Amino acid sequence: MTSTLVTGIAELVTNDPERGPGPLGTVPDAALVVEGGRVAWVGPAAGAPAADAAYDVAGRAVLPGFVDSHSHLVFAGDRAAEFAARMAGEPYTAGGIRATVAATRAATDEQLTAQVARLVAEMRAQGTTTVEIKSGYGLTVHDEARSLAVAAQFTTETTFLGAHVVPEGSTPEEYVALVTGPMLRAAAPHARWIDAFCEEGAFDTDQARAVLAAGAAAGLRGRLHANQLGPGPGVRLAAELGLVAVDHCTHLTDADVAALRDAGTIATLLPGVEFSTRQPWPDARRLLDAGVRVALASDCNPGSSYTTSLPLCIALAVREMGMTPGEAVHAATAVGAAALARDDVGVLTPGSRADLQVLEAPSHLHLAYRPGVPLTHATWTAGRPVPQTAPAGGGPPGGARE
Ligand code: NIG
Ligand code: FE
Repeated sequence: MTSTLVTGIAELVTNDPERGPGPLGTVPDAALVVEGGRVAWVGPAAGAPAADAAYDVAGRAVLPGFVDSHSHLVFAGDRAAEFAARMAGEPYTAGGIRATVAATRAATDEQLTAQVARLVAEMRAQGTTTVEIKSGYGLTVHDEARSLAVAAQFTTETTFLGAHVVPEGSTPEEYVALVTGPMLRAAAPHARWIDAFCEEGAFDTDQARAVLAAGAAAGLRGRLHANQLGPGPGVRLAAELGLVAVDHCTHLTDADVAALRDAGTIATLLPGVEFSTRQPWPDARRLLDAGVRVALASDCNPGSSYTTSLPLCIALAVREMGMTPGEAVHAATAVGAAALARDDVGVLTPGSRADLQVLEAPSHLHLAYRPGVPLTHATWTAGRPVPQTAPAGGGPPGGARE
């Protein structure tokens, strides 16, 4: 097995508090050894061991690759006109989802695969090395199962979101029975997670509870979309069920915040949504000050957040949501990993996967300090640099859990 010593690291973000100050565990003038796709050693350059090969990053910062714990990449078509109408004053409603459902059902597997490959390549070029991908634009047994089969070509973090909205032609009761029965049976072999959109106009708490219970019985772990469009009971349901994460959390009461803290459920905030829907920003500061762990993710989808950029999400979270640059970087790496129940990614410490990004900058601060500037110099997965323009259907970001 060949080992590689990475040198010239102006700042190494380990996310291991034992290695340096704060949750980021930063090490200045650092080095890192990679062997067999894993991190073998990290520390000050002066103490670095010998290795078979060397790679000099010439004064750049090295961070764990971003872990994007929430995306909806399996879709066809776009909704640019809907976005333009919103920017001219129209409100966002979840009803637009049905337009994407029609386009997705009409697309071939090859078209959907090419679309996911394109978006994953965009993510990778911006430092993301692990991505979660949901279904949810098929809403038939066949289309949900094939959406997940497409997603599974790119990541092990696949999520069955049959309970996205009730499709035209079904009653809510009929549709929940389908999602918890035949659709779940077809989806489960391709999924690790199950999700539901628990919001007025989508699924109520009883329906979301039934969907997650059926998923759990089929071996899938639960997560929820909740409190996106207004206050509601979804976040408290997530806390009551002890879910690892609940996503959106834009409209929270004090009781919701306390419930998240007490349950240890991560609040995944999705600033691309508030940017693209002109809704109020979620209050990350309030959550952090209350002791709730906060993750940041893209929610990449054609309706509410058509961005693949975690650097954009970090900059927005810092400027608009009260996070420090360090908190935002931590939220897009280590806490994103925790939101997927992963401890092998999102950190750079001996034994973790060597999934990392080299910034075209000397420190993590530049991600928020230089908004809109492409700062990804290189992205590595499992200890190897990834070509920045990946071929369609190319290797998965984050790869397999071992
Ligand atoms: O996470 N909230 C529900 N689903 C997506 C939006 C989907 C769409 O508008 O197409 C979200 O924001
Ligand atoms: Fe979403």
